[in-house]
Amino acid sequence: MFHEITVSDLSFNPFTRLNKDWALVTVTDPDTGKTNTMTVSWGGVGVLWGKNVVTIYIRPQRYTHEFLEKTDHFTLSFYDMSTEGMRDALTLCGRKSGRDIDKIAQAGLHLAGEKEYPWFEESELVFCCKTLYRSAFKPELISDDIKASAYPNEDYHDVYIASIEKIIKKD
Ligand SMILES: Cc1cc2nc3c(=O)[nH]c(=O)nc-3n(C[C@H](O)[C@H](O)[C@H](O)COP(=O)(O)O)c2cc1C
Repeated sequence: MFHEITVSDLSFNPFTRLNKDWALVTVTDPDTGKTNTMTVSWGGVGVLWGKNVVTIYIRPQRYTHEFLEKTDHFTLSFYDMSTEGMRDALTLCGRKSGRDIDKIAQAGLHLAGEKEYPWFEESELVFCCKTLYRSAFKPELISDDIKASAYPNEDYHDVYIASIEKIIKKD
């Protein structure tokens, strides 16, 4: 059963939840109604402009990037990675593109939520997010060692900062 909680109710370690457990960024195209999802493990949560925000970093070649450019709404959702098959599901969502396959079906995920804020029945925690700022990294401002390690192909991430409009938790 899902219910809404506030940031004060969160017991959430962004470092382990992102870098170790991973998350899904999920977006519905407002024109076609199609939903796509991809795995992320880089990102952040914090406060900006007096709002609770998440930051995600999405390379322009991702299919999900096309969706994020068409709408301001997306979700960032987290999973109980000890559940059987969950690591495989998020690995598939992070290796295959929604351009090529029906990723959601193949990952065994079940769409839930609303049109603006799609999530999956398998989610443990969902941040419903509204983009406030999007920008490309300026390569000349990135340190040389990070440029060499993260961007040998010069495919610099775009940054999305989004307010957390709603938080949904599974009981
Ligand atoms: C553990 C993991 C973390 C990832 N984190 C990111 C990320 O933060 N940003 C990004 O652009 N791609 C990231 N990726 C790669 C995308 O998830 C992957 O390219 C995916 O297939 C894109 O799907 P799409 O083309 O349907 O959007 C990650 C992949 C994995 C496996």
